Order: sequence, then structure tokens, then C-alpha cells
Amino acid sequence: MKKMLVASLALLMASQAFAADPISQRKDVFKQYKPVVGAMGKMVKGDTPYNKDEFAKLATQLEQLSQQPWQYFPAGSNAGKTDAKPEIWSKPADWQKAIDNHKAATAKLKQVALAGDLAAIKTQFGATQQTCKACHKDFRKD
Ligand code: HEC
Repeated sequence: MKKMLVASLALLMASQAFAADPISQRKDVFKQYKPVVGAMGKMVKGDTPYNKDEFAKLATQLEQLSQQPWQYFPAGSNAGKTDAKPEIWSKPADWQKAIDNHKAATAKLKQVALAGDLAAIKTQFGATQQTCKACHKDFRKD
């Protein structure tokens, strides 16, 4: 009984420690953005040949990733090893708008990727990257 209690206490503490580190959780998601966007960028630029199915797969991954980081920005998580600007919490409506713009852009990118028109893909890939840049400009430290 005592052993079980100790074990469940340890588990509880471990899960709290995990939950208490939203900074590394959100960074982990952003790190996953990089190879996906990088591979798409290469195809858009023609460094690697455009492959409709491969690009659509990447666009689908990106659309899924675009749902994830925002849950890891709880109030008070702007201390420590983070580049998040305090405006995330002081201007919540603007922050939400930046998130919504980004989600809308990635959703549209997935759509055009599935359709497979490379010209439309190029335009929408650029528009999507703009939503990354715009948010970083306002809400991430350089
Ligand atoms: C709505 C705002 C927003 C959008 C959109 C956004 N980011 Fe970020 N990003 C951030 C913030 C805030 C941080 C800083 C996180 C921290 O240090 O706690 C960040 C950090 C990062 C990092 C650094 C992670 C690390 O290891 O420290 C990368 C890479 C990144 N973003 C890539 C992207 C890419 C690529 C896109 C678009 C496909 C994107 N982001 C879209 C807000 C955003």
C-alpha cells in the first residue's frame, strides 16, 4: 500500500513537472514546423522536384501542427528560457488573430496542395509563411 502511494505520488509529481513546462512543449512543436516547412520550401523553389502527393502530405502535417502550439502558452509562462513576448498575454485579441490567420492560411494551403496546382500552391505557401513572420515580428523576441 505504502509502495503504491509512493509510486502514484511520484507519477503525480512527474506529470506536474511536465505540465509545468509549457515552454519546452511549445518549442518542441515549433521545432517540428521547421523540417516540414523546409521540405515544402524546397519543392516550391524547385530545389527538389515537385511531387503532388508528397507536398500534400507535408501540407496536411503542417495543418495539424498549426493547431498545437497555442495550448502551451498559459498565463505566466513568459519567464525563463523563452522568446515569447509579454504582448501575447497583454494583447490577447491580437494574439488570437495571429493564430487564426495562421490556421486559416495552413488550411487553405492544404486545400490547394490536394488540388495540386503548383502556381496556386506557390502563392499560398508564401501567404502561409507571411503568417509565421507576422506573428514572430509581433510576439517573438529577435
Ligand atoms: C501566432 C504566432 C506564431 C505563429 C503563427 C508562428 N509562430 Fe513560431 N513562434 C512563436 C512564438 C511566440 C515563439 C517563441 C516560443 C518560446 O520561445 O517560448 C515561436 C518560436 C518558433 C521557433 C523557435 C523554437 C525554439 O526552438 O525555440 C521556430 C523554429 C518557429 N517558431 C517556427 C515557426 C514557423 C515555421 C511558423 C509558420 C509555419 C511559425 N513559427 C508560426 C509564435 C508563432
